[in-house]
Amino acid sequence: MSNSETIAGAGARPGPDPTPAGPCAMVIFGAGGDLTKRLVIPALYNLMTGKLLPERFALVGVDIADLSTEQWRQRLTDMMLSFTHGGGEFQTDSIDQAAWKSLLARMTYMRGDFGDDATFARLADLLADKERADGTGGNVLFYLAVADRFFGPVAEKIAAAGLADQQDGKRWRRVIVEKPFGHDYASAKALNARLLNILSEDQIYRIDHFLGKETVQSILAVRFANGMFEPIWNRDHIDHVQITAAETIGVERRGRFYEQTGALRDMVPNHVFQLLTMTAMEPPSSFDPDAVRSRKSDILNAIPPVPLDCAVRGQYGSGTILGERVDGYRREPDVSATSPVETFVALKLEVDTWRWAGVPFFLRTGKRLGKRWTEIAIHFRHAPLSLFKGTDVAAMGSNWLILQIQPDEGISLQFQVKRPGQAVALTPIKMKFEYKDWFPPRPNVGYETLLYDCMMGDASLFQRADMVEAGWRIVQPVLDAWKAQEPSDFPNYDAGTSGPAAADRLIAGSGGWRRIGEQA
Ligand code: BG6
Repeated sequence: MSNSETIAGAGARPGPDPTPAGPCAMVIFGAGGDLTKRLVIPALYNLMTGKLLPERFALVGVDIADLSTEQWRQRLTDMMLSFTHGGGEFQTDSIDQAAWKSLLARMTYMRGDFGDDATFARLADLLADKERADGTGGNVLFYLAVADRFFGPVAEKIAAAGLADQQDGKRWRRVIVEKPFGHDYASAKALNARLLNILSEDQIYRIDHFLGKETVQSILAVRFANGMFEPIWNRDHIDHVQITAAETIGVERRGRFYEQTGALRDMVPNHVFQLLTMTAMEPPSSFDPDAVRSRKSDILNAIPPVPLDCAVRGQYGSGTILGERVDGYRREPDVSATSPVETFVALKLEVDTWRWAGVPFFLRTGKRLGKRWTEIAIHFRHAPLSLFKGTDVAAMGSNWLILQIQPDEGISLQFQVKRPGQAVALTPIKMKFEYKDWFPPRPNVGYETLLYDCMMGDASLFQRADMVEAGWRIVQPVLDAWKAQEPSDFPNYDAGTSGPAAADRLIAGSGGWRRIGEQA
């Protein structure tokens, strides 16, 4: 891609340089929460500095704490300043004062109990004021940055107060729903039904923040904007695919949440399946949001529920990560000393389509692994014959295409060359592209594109109801079986390693996992 061909958010939808979104108000439920502070506000600030926020914009924060607008603004200012000292996802040396002040000026705090109808009546009045005073056009984006048990109730109260009513072509009302969207197939289906009872599908924006990552969006560009990958992107040429999302962090202060969740629920039907569908989907007929999402949905629908012998769970014990001793999961705050909850999961999946039949997809994700590392590794089949028999070439190496998602973002290709010298000796080498070598880093916490797209009414990077349900359906048998039978061997991997030995056995027939952190 030349620098002049712009890809403007929207799941790699080609287009001109993005322009500011149209007038709107944004209401954050959970304005005092961690998500708002760490991600939503910094993302809005980045949109402001990038001149992508609407010129006519109002931001309303709603939460239970008794704060004034001034106090809320001050807290957020303190938080932004803390980022200049190296805290949080938002890494920056300094804050653009003009942009920050301009964002602050648009902020209003409203104290309110999410369970109380009066909160929503007051909110309706406030939004009407904003429409008059700030020219928001009556468009409102509601962001549910609240615990998942509030998703249904808050959405219902929004609707009951008439706040979800749209007027065709005149004003829109949209609701962003955070993760987790349900905790199994039945609850996701029930939540969808509940929301779809009061909102239409095109008003619901189910977030999966992995889709906000630049490199995840660029998978489609790599696959479909180049002529050379698609012809070999199939069962004739690909032996298997490995997707790894490894973290070094433990459960931090989220022990209570994690005890109810575990690695499978927390990461797989959402984030890891996004990586999988981007890798496996057929080309969409256009970049229309529904065309893209339908092709992803096709993939999820083609994956049979995972049989138990294709799933491995693990839980970390104590160990050393990056030179530091860390406790095992069972000693984390708010975690039971006999917890059966998994902090690692590996799965082997099939994708029953013409393109992928017989190509295993191996997925693994875990906490407290040796390195923070997310990649999609495509392992190509060996050359059909070795012309090198009878030489001292012991074994033909493998061809890998690695899509590196984080921490470094890039793509690399591994193939064989002849080592210089008289003997014919093959050696694998790597050809590597790194984003940072080609594009100046942009401040980005990962929510910018998602918020902007939602303001623009582009749902390409959001989950549709059927996709969420299909994701849960695939993992449901494993959730059920693991619940019914507690593990007897936990903890079964040391912090700082690459997970339990059983995960290695799962993939042994395909040659083993790539080493976590193996430079692409
Ligand atoms: C969240 C999970 O959705 O994603 C966390 O709840 C996990 O447990 C996080 O750590 C990983 O996201 P990222 O962007 O840090 O890779």
